[in-house]
Amino acid sequence: MAFICRNAALLLKPCRAAPALLSAGRLYSSGGQYEYILVEKRGEKNNVGFIQLNRPKALNALCDGLMKEVGRALDDFEVDADVGAIVITGSDRAFAAGADIKEMQNRTFQECYGGNFLAHWNRVSTVRKPVIAAVNGFALGGGCELAMMCDIIYAGEKAQFGQPEILLGTIPGAGGTQRLTRAVGKSLAMEMVLTGDRINAQEAKQSGLVSKVYPVDQLVSEAVKCGEKIASNSKLVSAMAKEAVNAAFELTLAEGNRLEKRLFHATFATDDRKEGMTAFVEKRKASFQDN
Ligand code: HXC
Repeated sequence: MAFICRNAALLLKPCRAAPALLSAGRLYSSGGQYEYILVEKRGEKNNVGFIQLNRPKALNALCDGLMKEVGRALDDFEVDADVGAIVITGSDRAFAAGADIKEMQNRTFQECYGGNFLAHWNRVSTVRKPVIAAVNGFALGGGCELAMMCDIIYAGEKAQFGQPEILLGTIPGAGGTQRLTRAVGKSLAMEMVLTGDRINAQEAKQSGLVSKVYPVDQLVSEAVKCGEKIASNSKLVSAMAKEAVNAAFELTLAEGNRLEKRLFHATFATDDRKEGMTAFVEKRKASFQDN
């Protein structure tokens, strides 16, 4: 298998950190070194962007550098015409144990507010390609928030989700109070945010936070399979579908339905819509050209 390793020396460290990744797909790098994440393309057609958080000693605590690297990797995948979906995962032990508490410990209000601390995390929720979070182990605080910025969450059987910020004398700051409440409803969200109690994978499934639960060792491959399924559809139309679903969180029902209708109409301007319906009538598989 040929690896894309434009700067082999710089990539040596992450390559060594997780050799399993090397045999699973192509290393992917445009523009430099990643210190905290591993990035490659996976799937039979190499059309699934794959980001693995790789700060094992800190349980993938989301330091500033790590989140900046995630943003850069997403930027690369966003403009990569081959990539139709993106998977973000961590390790078996931790998706991410939260924002880096050691990094935050001595921050002042002036630094947080003046520097708009954590604003760049928002990149995860502005990506137009579908993003799947594959969560094994801890997804706490900012880790849970990172997962919730993704479009689909798959969980491993031992996953634990929580917003424990209250135990640190603070509150969620990257969407935890908002996205969790929309996902699981007020009572459970309030309980998690006010007590810091965690929920397990089954509870997360029952409450609607995650869509599927898999054995720990199957989670990542199932997430990549989901990514491949998405990537086999029209990328153009998938972006419209994602935009329409996300509008449900922002707009009134009437406004949302109106936007949906306009986007539905817009699909009729694409070759892919024509190909999809023609293929159905001709009883063959559609071949989308993202056009
Ligand atoms: C920095 C962290 C960390 C974190 C774990 N570590 N979580 N470092 N920030 N969020 C480090 C520990 O300091 C330790 O390193 C190593 O990871 C292993 O952690 P242990 O605590 O020894 O492991 P364990 O006993 O198994 O407990 C696992 C754990 C616990 C339950 C996940 O680590 C924990 O409670 N972590 C904090 C979880 C949390 O409060 N998250 C919310 C953060 S605030 P050393 O070198 O010290 O041994 C947040 C705000 C978001 O996310 C706001 C917007 C983004």
